[in-house]
Amino acid sequence: MQKFLQTACFFFLLCALDHSFAQEPISPITLPESLDTAKVELGKKLFFDPRLSKSGWISCNSCHNLMLSGTDNLVSSIGHKWAQGPINAPTVFNAAYSIA
Ligand code: HEC
Repeated sequence: MQKFLQTACFFFLLCALDHSFAQEPISPITLPESLDTAKVELGKKLFFDPRLSKSGWISCNSCHNLMLSGTDNLVSSIGHKWAQGPINAPTVFNAAYSIA
């Protein structure tokens, strides 16, 4: 009997979760139907290439460090000639889905 109740509760929770996701304005990310691996590889190369900066020192990864969840973890990002702007770098993770 206890096993039955545990299983019933589990399925009830699953249904409740599924129903609550359906009400959310933001839904779970679905995998793309196809992925061009050559483009993915090019994007990766460009993202880590400091030659894109004037100084040749700064890459996208300098401010959007993928090992730091896509940010630099600083209050204000450091740019060319150590200049600091008024804002920090947001994560680039799932940025394609950003709505603002
Ligand atoms: C010097 C630091 C710095 C570098 C280098 C940098 N970014 Fe950013 N990035 C920022 C900051 C700061 C913002 C926030 C800008 C704003 O909100 O106006 C930002 C915003 C973004 C966003 C928008 C994220 C969102 O969800 O709103 C993307 C995407 C992005 N950068 C990608 C890149 C790519 C790709 C490169 C390399 C070509 C790059 N960044 C290089 C600091 C940097």
